[in-house]
Amino acid sequence: HGALGEIWDDEMSSTMLGKRLRKVVQNYQAMNKYGVQLSDSKFAARRHKLSGPELLCQFKEMVQVITLTPEMKPFAGFPWASQLPPRPLTLELGPFKTCAVVSSAGSLRNSGLGKEIDAHDAVLRFNCAPTVGFEKDVGSKTTVRFINSQVMASEDHHFLSSSLYSTGVLVAWDPAPYSSDLNEWYNKTDYPIFKQYQRYRRLHPQQLFYILHPIVEWQLWRRVQDNMAEPIQKNPPSSGLLGTVLMMSLCDVVHVYEFLPSRRKTELCHYYQRFTDAACTLGAYHPLLYEKNLVKRMNQGPDRDIYTHGRVRLPGFSTFNC
Ligand code: C5P
Repeated sequence: HGALGEIWDDEMSSTMLGKRLRKVVQNYQAMNKYGVQLSDSKFAARRHKLSGPELLCQFKEMVQVITLTPEMKPFAGFPWASQLPPRPLTLELGPFKTCAVVSSAGSLRNSGLGKEIDAHDAVLRFNCAPTVGFEKDVGSKTTVRFINSQVMASEDHHFLSSSLYSTGVLVAWDPAPYSSDLNEWYNKTDYPIFKQYQRYRRLHPQQLFYILHPIVEWQLWRRVQDNMAEPIQKNPPSSGLLGTVLMMSLCDVVHVYEFLPSRRKTELCHYYQRFTDAACTLGAYHPLLYEKNLVKRMNQGPDRDIYTHGRVRLPGFSTFNC
């Protein structure tokens, strides 16, 4: 890219990773914890590579952001089903004109993007990512906080009592069996998402709090796998891609910050922690490398914005026809 320096190339593959990370990724590619069923012949043929607009259409037509509602089985039979919001998320929130998805990447440090991020109509953040003390770089507005079941369950996040989670609408997800069967998932969650959900709702009954239907994670996983020439990790996509698709369902235009690393690219995992690990940016458990390849292809903003701001621009699903 010459004067632009290095930016994400949309053909990243596990062979380009360092030795240690490549091993970890290969392990996950061989492991199949969630029972993914996809015949090998699916990978065999190297299909025609879709253009950005073609990919956007696939995402729009084949991934639907569905949340659990009280009448869905088996929840309908449980006394706590009434804690679930009666209407699905996509009917309750938005539509918004312009939105920001703030990855938690270490490269947000010293970005000075806070003002720009806060100028959006809605801002999505992930897991335990704070704003207090980091306003200059990440802003202070939180419209949606997208959290995984691990954050809800692990002792050190103090999910039930920390004020971090009390602003914005919460949306939680948990890696589920590939079947996306709600009964099967209910008996086999990765972390106790339902127990924690019920507890949180009792403590904060006024806050809107959704649970993502697991079909969303696997529909999205299929889009990533079907558009890659090699087998990807058989684990759900990262929160980053899930949150991005969620906002594409609510907004006219979505700006994603530091998902594709800018010139500030660093091995620092999160902007709010000292911990360093290249796996945070390149993926280990999640097929993150491949997710980034697709986001690069779908980007409608200039490459220069990636380099300087770590900014990608994606159109909302309601703004284009297929
Ligand atoms: O680590 P966590 O899942 O909370 O971060 C939110 C999302 O931000 C990740 O799922 C990933 O998509 C993205 N991320 C990234 N690079 C990093 C850290 C996070 O792309 N270094």
